[in-house]
Amino acid sequence: MRLTILGGGGFRVPLVYGALLGDRAEGRVSHVTLYDEDSGRLRAMARVLADQAAGIADAPAVTATTDLDEALRGADFVFSAIRVGGLEGRAADERIALAEGVLGQETVGAGGIAYGLRTVPVAREIARRVARTAPDAWVINFTNPAGVVTEAMAEELGDRVIGICDSPVGLGRRIARLLGARPEDAWIDYVGLNHLGWVRGLRIGGRDELPRLLADARALESFEEGRLFGAEWLRSLGAIPNEYLHYYYFNRDTVRAYQEAKQTRGAFLRDQQRGFYAEAGRPDPAPGAALAAWDRTRAEREATYMSENREVAGVGAREESDLESGGYEKVALALMRAIARDERATLILNVRNRGTLSVLDAEAVIEVPCLVDANGAHPVAVDPLPLHAVGLVTSVKAAEREVLAAAASGSRADAVKAFALHPLVDSVGVARRLVTGYAAEHPGLGYLR
Ligand code: G6P
Ligand code: MN
Repeated sequence: MRLTILGGGGFRVPLVYGALLGDRAEGRVSHVTLYDEDSGRLRAMARVLADQAAGIADAPAVTATTDLDEALRGADFVFSAIRVGGLEGRAADERIALAEGVLGQETVGAGGIAYGLRTVPVAREIARRVARTAPDAWVINFTNPAGVVTEAMAEELGDRVIGICDSPVGLGRRIARLLGARPEDAWIDYVGLNHLGWVRGLRIGGRDELPRLLADARALESFEEGRLFGAEWLRSLGAIPNEYLHYYYFNRDTVRAYQEAKQTRGAFLRDQQRGFYAEAGRPDPAPGAALAAWDRTRAEREATYMSENREVAGVGAREESDLESGGYEKVALALMRAIARDERATLILNVRNRGTLSVLDAEAVIEVPCLVDANGAHPVAVDPLPLHAVGLVTSVKAAEREVLAAAASGSRADAVKAFALHPLVDSVGVARRLVTGYAAEHPGLGYLR
């Protein structure tokens, strides 16, 4: 089986390759093709992967290319994990929004819209190329903002593109552990959009155990989301929100914390990763050196994840148990396995709504538990959202739709509408200045000037 990774020079690629190395089952991936525009990053990544494979006899073969069609030809699965504009672009997304007093974040609010505007045209082009060059391949989209990017690719690829995120699984797993259950035995009642969803229940043996957790303030404040939102607010909601909802429920506080931080997340990662790629790309590295540099960088990155939000909430460093994420690579591998081997699995994925949430149309990509088999991912029926969640989900989806429209039309008015309709952008005047600011900064958005 052949897997192609678009954005193959990206920092998370060794996580995927590590998961593949641990897969001993029949029909596993035998060949990985890394595609990236940047040959230097590809070279550095190929070294890390070679270090990972050292001493493993049947490690999947790795090839690297900067030619997209060559990368796609013959692929069974395509992971799309690109970052249009790089971390420099992420840092600019954050900086320009924060200067206007609104949230500058990778996937949420003004920063997410800027990133979406930049990424959607590229994602659409990739989808067209996949449809032409590898029409039978399944595309697993990791590229953020994952919901709107998956929706853009689905225009061309339909249900052959599936978006993934690690945050719902990680959340479900942390809650299950707290309740003394094995995560694999729990049914997680989670629904919403990507980075905008809620765990409304967690059933173990058919019984909803979430009320037991909500009743126990100490247990509630012993895990990442509990500390972030506080027991009282979680009880008011009667649900556990995805950690990204912190940006909505504590918006003013997080904006201020981000403005006061000495560096934004994007700027921190940009500098950190610059060091890593320089080190891993050095001529004639000692065996294992590239992998060691990567591992050091990864640990530091994980330890500082969402640190401004934790500061707002007045909670300290991450606990060991919080560091256990859902793992993109694990979700992706489980998904690929279920499709390739027709092994039924239930996974929380980004797929087209069909009729799942009645407040959204059939094409809207939502994040929801899905049954997966060789026919793809099928959303399961879920209870309707409460009104406060309907409000957020529909207004954010409306903003996403304007992103899709603006990326197609190139119209400044559409782009202004995308920012202005987002619940975290509080003025049309701000939206106009954001479009001007982003168009001046990002070469790919020059059309909006
Ligand atoms: C989580 C989200 C991803 C996001 C990442 C950002 O894993 O689910 O969608 O890309 O956090 O982490 P970073 O270390 O880049 O800030
Ligand atoms: Mn995510």
